[in-house]
Amino acid sequence: MRFKDKVVLVLGGNSGMGLAAAQAFAAEGGKVHLTGRDQATIDAAVAGIPGSRGYRSDIADPAATGAVVADVEDADGRIDVLYINAGVGGFAPLRAITEEAWDHVHAINLKGCVFALQKALRIMGKGGSIVVTGSIGAHGALAGNGAYAAAKGGLYMAMKVFAKELVGEGIRLNMVSPGPIDTPLLHRNPGMSEEDVARLKDMMIANIPMHRMGESEEVAKAVLFLASDDASFITGANLFVDGGLLELR
Ligand SMILES: NC(=O)c1ccc[n+]([C@@H]2O[C@H](COP(=O)([O-])OP(=O)(O)OC[C@H]3O[C@@H](n4cnc5c(N)ncnc54)[C@H](OP(=O)(O)O)[C@@H]3O)[C@@H](O)[C@H]2O)c1
Repeated sequence: MRFKDKVVLVLGGNSGMGLAAAQAFAAEGGKVHLTGRDQATIDAAVAGIPGSRGYRSDIADPAATGAVVADVEDADGRIDVLYINAGVGGFAPLRAITEEAWDHVHAINLKGCVFALQKALRIMGKGGSIVVTGSIGAHGALAGNGAYAAAKGGLYMAMKVFAKELVGEGIRLNMVSPGPIDTPLLHRNPGMSEEDVARLKDMMIANIPMHRMGESEEVAKAVLFLASDDASFITGANLFVDGGLLELR
C-alpha cells in the first residue's frame, strides 16, 4: 500500500501501460484520476478502478490539462503523484514525413507533456513525485522513427532539466523508457497494415535479448517504484524497461 491516500493523476491512463499503472496505483491505495481521449475506454477504466475519476482531455491542449488539474484540485485538493504517459507513435522515413504528422507527434509527445507538467505543478508540493514515459526510441536509431525519436528525445532532455529545477522543491522527477511493449499503440501507427505491424514485432523481438516483447504490467511496476518512497533518493533518472535491448547491445 505504498500509495495509501495519495492523489495520483495518470495522463493517458485508459489504455496500455497507463491503464496498467492506474490499476496498480489504485491497488496500492492511491486515489486515481486518469485521462485519455477515448470516452469508451475512459469509462471502462474507471469502472474497473473503484473510486477513480476519468476525464476526456487532449494533452496537446495545455488549457484542457489545466482544466483537469482544476477538477483534481476540487476533488482531492492536490496531486501527490503525476504520471505523464500519453503518447502516440508515427512511423515514416525522412522522405515521407509530412509537416502535419511531425507536428501531431510533437504536440502530444513533447509540447503537451511539458505543459501538462507545468499545469500539474500548480497543485504539487514537497514530497511530490513525477514519472514520465520516454522511449528507447530516443536512444537508438530506428529507420522510420525520426519524428517520434525527436519528440521523445526532446522530452528526455527537457525532463532532465526540469528534474534539476524541481529538486530544491522536494519534488522528484524520473523517466521510464520502455522498449517494445505489447500495447494497442503499435496497431495505431497511421499507414501501417497488420502485416506491417507483425513484421515490425518480429524484427523487434529478434533484437531483444529476452526474445519477447514486454507487458504493460512490467512497465507499471517500474513506474510505481520510481513514483514511490522506495525511490526516495532517485531523481533525474531514466530507467529502461526493455528486456536488455539497449544496455546489452
Ligand atoms: N508500446 C510500446 O512499445 C512503447 C515503447 C516505448 C514507449 N511507449 C510510450 O508509452 C506510452 C504509452 O503507450 P502505450 O504503448 O501504452 O500505448 P496506448 O495503449 O496507445 O496508450 C497511449 C495512451 O496515451 C493516451 N493518449 C494518446 N494521445 C493522447 C492525447 N492527445 N491526449 C490524451 N491522451 C492521449 C491514450 O489515450 P486514448 O487511447 O484515449 O487515445 C492512451 O491512454 C506512450 O507515451 C508511448 O509513446 C510505448
